[in-house]
Amino acid sequence: MVIPAIILHDVGWNAIPEHLHLTAFGPNPSNPKLARVHELEGAKIARAILGKMQYPPEKIDEIFRIIQGHDSRKRPISASDRIVKDGDKLTRYSRKGMAIDLGRFHIPRREHLVFLEAIIDHWFLTPTAKRIAKREILLRKKESK
Ligand SMILES: [Fe+2]
Repeated sequence: MVIPAIILHDVGWNAIPEHLHLTAFGPNPSNPKLARVHELEGAKIARAILGKMQYPPEKIDEIFRIIQGHDSRKRPISASDRIVKDGDKLTRYSRKGMAIDLGRFHIPRREHLVFLEAIIDHWFLTPTAKRIAKREILLRKKESK
């Protein structure tokens, strides 16, 4: 259930014109309501896709709920939700994810590393994700030298 939820969690951006995506999130979003729209639309799109694939209905229901609140809901509804939330956040610590964020938000790399490192312990929900994030930060710091 975690894997289809991760794959489909951001499919809702497809319902929003691409030129508006960067107004919805980031350091100073001018249109933060769109972030909620991508969650709600994504949940509906995921339900339709998984329904066509005849995925088990009870799993579709949980995936729907996970996607519906994957950014806005702070408290996870299940162990799967906890993993999806942490996996989503971990992409920002990867080499590629960090390069994307630095490019689209024009943030200084050193400042971004300090920010990402500082939020690990209260941002991530699982000990495994905290451990991975700390390891990734060390790797990103080494790449900076
Ligand atoms: Fe998202």
